[in-house]
Amino acid sequence: MSDVVRTKDLWKVYPDGTRALKGVNLNVRRGEFLGVMGPSGSGKSTLLHLIGGLDRPTRGEVFLFGRSVSAMDEDELAEFRKGRVAYIFQFYYLLEDFTVLENLLIVGEMVGVKDPERKAKRILDFLRLSHRTRHKPNQLSGGEQQRVAIGRALISDPDLILADEPTGNLDMEEGIKIFNLFGDLNRAKGITFIVATHNQELRKFFHRVVNLRDGEVVGVDQIIPFSER
Ligand SMILES: Nc1ncnc2c1ncn2[C@@H]1O[C@H](COP(=O)(O)OP(=O)(O)O)[C@@H](O)[C@H]1O
Ligand SMILES: [Mg+2]
Repeated sequence: MSDVVRTKDLWKVYPDGTRALKGVNLNVRRGEFLGVMGPSGSGKSTLLHLIGGLDRPTRGEVFLFGRSVSAMDEDELAEFRKGRVAYIFQFYYLLEDFTVLENLLIVGEMVGVKDPERKAKRILDFLRLSHRTRHKPNQLSGGEQQRVAIGRALISDPDLILADEPTGNLDMEEGIKIFNLFGDLNRAKGITFIVATHNQELRKFFHRVVNLRDGEVVGVDQIIPFSER
């Protein structure tokens, strides 16, 4: 079976000359819970942006589900990503003027979910947010807002979730809850996760960790062997 993600000699040089990625090669297997770790500025966000097609590499290639993303134009890429890849960010980026339920519905309708309301409610149930469906994001705690963002990611039934410092705005206890939730989704639904974090305390949750320094992979650690997942 082909890897969910493969990068080949991936370079990103920003217009100001910053070399954010310097030849990153990476393979991510279906069902993996992969960490991308490294200090601030090591290139984690850049790598996730390139994998998700939010930005283009200067050189090298990204393969998503076996297909080269570089060859696609914006529309093709958007269509290809739809329902396959979802993002979760540090600052949630929820629509502030809409309720929790509406935040999920908007995405559900965009990707063409059949009965979005029923599905959204089921997901919010699972995320223990049933009592919050009519609230606006600013009425929720950080952990709850991140769970809404996870719900929004889940409504399209993605195969791959890219999460960039998803616990960066949360305290450790809330952060661990989010990671446990990711672990449940990984096991129960087989969703592949690529999670960027600089927080070393979260290392133990991953199956495997890719360590980045100054735009280069300086090591890969197998944390949880395949047989113990
Ligand atoms: N749009 C940009 N323009 C110029 N430099 C950038 C841009 N985005 C990130 N960088 C630089 O690229 C390097 C990697 O950044 P980033 O991928 O955000 O790392 P991380 O997520 O690990 O903190 C840093 O030196 C950062 O300052
Ligand atoms: Mg970052």
